[in-house]
Amino acid sequence: MPKKRKTKHKKKKILVIHGPNLNMLGKREKKIYGKISLEKIDSGLKSLAKELNVELISKQSNIEGELVNFIQGAAKNETSGILINPAAYTHTSIAIRDAILATKLPAVEVHISNIYQREEFRHKSLTAPACIGQITGFGKMSYLLGLMALVNRI
Ligand code: DQA
Repeated sequence: MPKKRKTKHKKKKILVIHGPNLNMLGKREKKIYGKISLEKIDSGLKSLAKELNVELISKQSNIEGELVNFIQGAAKNETSGILINPAAYTHTSIAIRDAILATKLPAVEVHISNIYQREEFRHKSLTAPACIGQITGFGKMSYLLGLMALVNRI
């Protein structure tokens, strides 16, 4: 009898990108962003990723060009989608918007706070039009909802 071949299905890869100052979560502007740390957000995402049967890689940088490099890198290493909180670069970065468009990968933008309830300069997102959708204002849940929406799409 021929041996049955076990076909190992590779898990789809999701890249999570956290922008500037998000490494300060839990310490910065707690009234707006709450007490949760970035590590806690990442561990919540990791648990959900397990349930959704996807592999999750998480990166943070305070440097715009580095965020662009992360996005470009995703296109090269078989990533299926990007979950991104560009933080302050949301409102300023044509480079990040262009990088997302260049990868052609589905991306979901998330924000902890509701950017439309805050200062006017936060009402405009340069990066959201490059994404399939945006989730804003649900704290840690924004990330979890974003991951679910992204995995549902890929
Ligand atoms: C943020 C909102 C941005 O306006 C701000 O610059 C941040 C965090 C959020 O997750 O609510 O750093 O992206």
